[in-house]
Amino acid sequence: MSEDPSHSQDHSQDHSQDFVTLKDERSGKSTRLPVLYGSQGSPVLDIATLHAEFGYYTFDPGYGATGSCASAITFINGSEGVLMHRGYDISELAEQSDYLEVCYLLLNADLPNKTQKDEFFQTIRNHTMLHDQMQYFFRGFRRDAHPMAIMVAVVGALSAFYHDSLDIQDEEQRKLASIRMVAKMPTIAAQVYKYAIGQPFVSPRNDLGYVENFLNMTFSVPAEAYHADPAVVRALEQIFILHADHEQNASTSTVRLAGSSGANPFACIAAGISSLWGPAHGGANEAVLNMLEDMEETSRIPEFLARAKDKDDPFRLMGFGHRVYKNYDPRAAVLRKCLESVLISKGVEREPLFERARALEKAALEDAYFVERKLFPNVDFYSGILLRAMGFPTSMFTVLFALARTVGWVAQWREMVEDPSSRIGRPRQLYRGRTKRPFVPLEQRKS
Ligand code: SDX
Repeated sequence: MSEDPSHSQDHSQDHSQDFVTLKDERSGKSTRLPVLYGSQGSPVLDIATLHAEFGYYTFDPGYGATGSCASAITFINGSEGVLMHRGYDISELAEQSDYLEVCYLLLNADLPNKTQKDEFFQTIRNHTMLHDQMQYFFRGFRRDAHPMAIMVAVVGALSAFYHDSLDIQDEEQRKLASIRMVAKMPTIAAQVYKYAIGQPFVSPRNDLGYVENFLNMTFSVPAEAYHADPAVVRALEQIFILHADHEQNASTSTVRLAGSSGANPFACIAAGISSLWGPAHGGANEAVLNMLEDMEETSRIPEFLARAKDKDDPFRLMGFGHRVYKNYDPRAAVLRKCLESVLISKGVEREPLFERARALEKAALEDAYFVERKLFPNVDFYSGILLRAMGFPTSMFTVLFALARTVGWVAQWREMVEDPSSRIGRPRQLYRGRTKRPFVPLEQRKS
């Protein structure tokens, strides 16, 4: 959905009486739809009265042209490749901030001062452990279960343990649930990994930073000391920042829709994790690596590009294209910059897999089909390659995406719950089924 430059100017001047007139050429009737302006971006038409006035609903499968809510958290301009959180540009946040500071920004609408930052960090540290009984919950899974299958189950099960943060009408309980989600996701993600490889769980440590603590819980073993590579810590911090929130994407919209029924916050986040798992969404980073491995060698790139263009072939070039960005994904630009430093730091920059990724990126960016459709590499193309270089198994990539995106889901969920105009989400449909017909008893039905 690209922004129309003629609309996406400063809306500070008063537009309170703008309307668009709609005329039904069949009946000759017309109606005026109010235009609503945000602080930035395309204005929207308020269609609340459309059905009452005209008897029509709107039709927009995939909601590509539909605003589902008003929000003040994240702004995207897809045609200009702009992404901002609470007014701060993503590239400045990625290069100058840290993940917990961005969490504070998303949850509290502004960057913390020194005192607020220290208090927030300490609060998060106090909630990183899981209820001891949850370790037995893992035991019900096969060791080769997909990590996302375990994560979605464990997160949903949090509501079975943390009963003092389920009442969404209680502000303190909403805040506690938010803190618990941000604090516990690294612990859950690390335990999901340890369970898969048969190693003992490693407890969180309060003397480590958020990202370092996650790496320690994931890669350290009781038998020896572990020191995270600073280049990996910084790169993972940037990956987490870049994935923190992204407006009303599929998984965030899932969280909002689940939350609109009054479901508890842990159940809503579990719903978001389920939606993120799909290869068209957060599962794309895993799909990128699977695609690069299936490609086997650089000489097969033309074959894969041809398949991606073939309308009769369901194959899509994983990590390319985006529903909103019709310019370069600003997050991909940041990751592309830190990718080389990590590859060099890990000594793998010449490995065939990464050479193949560079060659694929170059070939796609020079291919008319991709250029004409503005299908640029997106955040998942580079995050998958980076995570592999850091030593994460491909099956853990979307788990890390879910870890990072949890703060965005929680911030969007709280914004919706705290909006007095929020109602249960209930889209309509264009019905194309059978019209009314009498019931046919079994003995009269055609065999
Ligand atoms: C994420 O929404 C978000 O914000 C998501 C996300 C977030 O942070 O939450 O940014 C994270 O999900 C990033 C996207 C990760 N997915 C992938 O990398 C999977 C590969 N990408 C495609 O599946 C696709 O690009 C989508 C799903 C991302 C977008 O699908 P759209 O909206 O249908 O794409 P489009 O309308 O821009 O397509 C225009 C044309 C179509 O062809 P034509 O009908 O014009 O001939 O481009 C084609 C599409 O078929 N096309 C592709 C393609 N993506 C679009 N053709 C080949 N390979 C691709 N990857």
